[in-house]
Amino acid sequence: MDFRITPAPFQDATVSVPGDKSISHRALMLGSIARGRTEVSGFLAGEDCLATAAAMRALGVNIEQPRPTDMIIDGVGLRGLRAPAHDLDLGNSGTAMRLMAGLLAGQAFDSVLVGDASLSGRPMGRIITPLMRMGAAIESDCDGTPPLQIAGGVRLQPIDYALPMASAQVKSAVLLAGMYAAGTTSVTEPAVTRDHTERMLRSMGATVSTERNRITLEGGQELTGCAIEVPGDLSSATFIILGTLLSQDAEIIIKNVGINPTRTGVIDILLGMGADIRLENRRQFGDEPVADIRVRASRLHGCIVDPQLVSLAIDEFPALFVAAAAAKGTTTFSGLAELRVKESDRIAAMADGLRRLGIEVEETPDGARVRGGRFAGGVAESFDDHRVAMALAMAGTVAENEVLIRKVDNVNTSFPGFCDCLGGLGADVRVA
Ligand code: S3P
Repeated sequence: MDFRITPAPFQDATVSVPGDKSISHRALMLGSIARGRTEVSGFLAGEDCLATAAAMRALGVNIEQPRPTDMIIDGVGLRGLRAPAHDLDLGNSGTAMRLMAGLLAGQAFDSVLVGDASLSGRPMGRIITPLMRMGAAIESDCDGTPPLQIAGGVRLQPIDYALPMASAQVKSAVLLAGMYAAGTTSVTEPAVTRDHTERMLRSMGATVSTERNRITLEGGQELTGCAIEVPGDLSSATFIILGTLLSQDAEIIIKNVGINPTRTGVIDILLGMGADIRLENRRQFGDEPVADIRVRASRLHGCIVDPQLVSLAIDEFPALFVAAAAAKGTTTFSGLAELRVKESDRIAAMADGLRRLGIEVEETPDGARVRGGRFAGGVAESFDDHRVAMALAMAGTVAENEVLIRKVDNVNTSFPGFCDCLGGLGADVRVA
């Protein structure tokens, strides 16, 4: 599947985006090991989260999906998961694999985690190291990539772990394993990362303390199922924000978007580039803050992006590269080394894509310098990465000529209905 984009900028509209991917994964995992029922609304019915749902079902949990965005999970309690009859296929999802490894490290049974070609090339040493230090028995391919073979029946020890990189996935893997360890597990992060695991554990009755960058919990705490209303995903909303900023004069409202402060780095960076973005109608969905986002077409200017904001905007750099390409002047990104081990090497993928559309980009080991210009149009590769595909599609809406983006199937991992959503905004993005 390719995207064929005929340039047509956004028009005024009010929209919503699919549910938050990180929260949807966690609702399935924590709902499964809680006692009692967890009813999830606003669930992201994208391929990544459906892979997690299939894995939890294979572990013996009854999960109903009465509507695509509703999940009813009959939790089995901390010790209620059962041995799966087959390998657990987590598709394209790094979050699913890393969090599941933490969850499964302390079970009584063996399990094997596998993924697609992209996931099979991603580093798992970062979770294997702390989990093995806790006593887990995990084997990967010799280069530290999936499949992961996890042997059950070990007694996990608590750990006091300083994360070598800012990663919510690694933090969450250690905390989930810590739930099965006898004693106090602590994780210290080099920079604050998304804290959805900690918030959801608390809403299910666990005591989890956060003191600056250090998170601590006691093993053995039983969770209680609860209702979870999943906010719209700010990472998906970012593409709509971007398309609006680039448009001639559109004003768009995106309803019910999660604005957890560990995720809003993208808004701060765009505001610093001159974007007109306002958060309205702020409220809570359980433990997660949400707002409606009002965004207007804006003249962006280049800037030096503060590396301190990177962990708070980690998935938004493909979109930010496109914003930089449309801005006046040069934008300098640094501190982005983690982008090289995402669903693709996102620094290289975006540099390649933007150059193909006529933008000057100088790649550096941990970032890039992007010189603002006009998108001429042309053919670009997605490198099988959903966020690269969607970011480049936004460039296409304001390009001088048609844009073709190749191999965009993975957009369904995080933003099902992407083309229809854009159609409702006046853009012309078709699957070809
Ligand atoms: C995620 C954490 C981030 C992010 C990913 C989702 C999560 O990954 O890029 O899309 O849900 O915990 P890292 O932990 O590798 O930074």
